[in-house]
Amino acid sequence: MTIENEQTLEDLRFPEEFIFGVATAAYQIEGAVLEDGRGTSIWDTFSHTPGRVLNGDTGDVACDHYHRWKSDLDLMVELGVDAYRFSISWPRLYPQGGGQLNQRGLSFYDRLIDGCLERGLQAYPTLYHWDLPQALADKGGWSNRSTADAFARYAEKIMDKFGDRISAVSTFNEPWCSSILSHLLGIHAPGEKNLDAALAVLHGQHRAHGLAVQAMRASRSSVPLGIVLNLQSLYPATDTDRDQEATQRHETFHNGMFLDPLFKGEYPEDAMRHLGDRMPDGWHDDLATIAQPLDYWGLNYYTPFHIADASSPQADYPATVQIDKPDVPRTDIGWEVDGSTFYDLLVDINARYTLPPCYITENGAAYNHDIVKGVIADQPRIDYLHQHLEGLLAAMRDGVDVRGYFAWSLMDNFEWAEGYDMRFGLIHVDYATQERTFKQSALWYQSLLQQHRG
Ligand code: NOJ
Repeated sequence: MTIENEQTLEDLRFPEEFIFGVATAAYQIEGAVLEDGRGTSIWDTFSHTPGRVLNGDTGDVACDHYHRWKSDLDLMVELGVDAYRFSISWPRLYPQGGGQLNQRGLSFYDRLIDGCLERGLQAYPTLYHWDLPQALADKGGWSNRSTADAFARYAEKIMDKFGDRISAVSTFNEPWCSSILSHLLGIHAPGEKNLDAALAVLHGQHRAHGLAVQAMRASRSSVPLGIVLNLQSLYPATDTDRDQEATQRHETFHNGMFLDPLFKGEYPEDAMRHLGDRMPDGWHDDLATIAQPLDYWGLNYYTPFHIADASSPQADYPATVQIDKPDVPRTDIGWEVDGSTFYDLLVDINARYTLPPCYITENGAAYNHDIVKGVIADQPRIDYLHQHLEGLLAAMRDGVDVRGYFAWSLMDNFEWAEGYDMRFGLIHVDYATQERTFKQSALWYQSLLQQHRG
């Protein structure tokens, strides 16, 4: 598809029942890491380890949302969104990962969810946005099967306490990040570089997802359940057979290792031919648990990747490398901008898998515009959102069943290994004063939502 240059909101007419929202995650915004009995998570440990996060930034204070949640919800009302996607901090509820429930942690989310409903906002909580309780990490984390059991008990508690007031629950956010990026590429907590460990974690998280879905369904069957994936839209770096085959392998490893077990109850054959003997013991027996029927799936989408072959006797499967395409528009974090690749991915996945309805659970861009005379003129973010919404609409017209869209993010926040350097918010945060200021993109999103309601 082609993206037109002359864009108006008129191009963006979504079905009446389509949900628009904003998304955040606990460790990225809450701060208050020592308050009300919260336990530590692997991200507290990681961010306090010198050299792990840019500038030594941590989530200790972040956007101080733990104390400012009421006014932050008011900002969402001002924006005009229907729904708020946030994550629940497991170590606030269970400081040790299991055992005694911390009532004060629970009551924060109790108030937050009530606060959403009082303002007419639907609540879309995610259970795991990467903040594994450190106590569980100390016992082997996701490689230890008992972590999945603890996760299922935590999920059941959430459903028991909040199931009457929430619109949907996502188990995991981007399990690719909390397995591959964290345990193979070493970029996210806990910063490990070990393929066997990454496979054990990947599998352990899938199993935890399945057990949690079972536990939540048994407790309350009516709340829609899903999982949020970050799938890669992939293109061969050149049209040689080698790069095309490499792109196929890359797809199998980085997308297939998530989509196939969750939605087909099996790992991709090609990947298992190379990696089967490095998978954790007994993995076959967990496949039925993993592939629980889901009510929706979430897609987080940001950027495409161009892939070349990197085969060598030493290289592990999939033996690929990502090549930056020259002379293309990029956001400030260096990610290529091309809304048509969003369309390609949605249509491709839809053709190859039988999936429940989709929600776009994140989409957005890092641009670090300053405030000039009270105004943050972030036109590139508006252009980014516009072309991705256009790509989305085109995919919906071509038959992909998408029910909602959440912009990442409500406000600037702690961008993991990039610390506070990268700003993804529709709303600007001055970290010295905690002042929030609507960027031009927030006003644009507000107009889009007004038109949508119109
Ligand atoms: C996906 C993650 O879920 C979110 O936490 C992160 O901030 C954004 N991508 C941007 O990198």
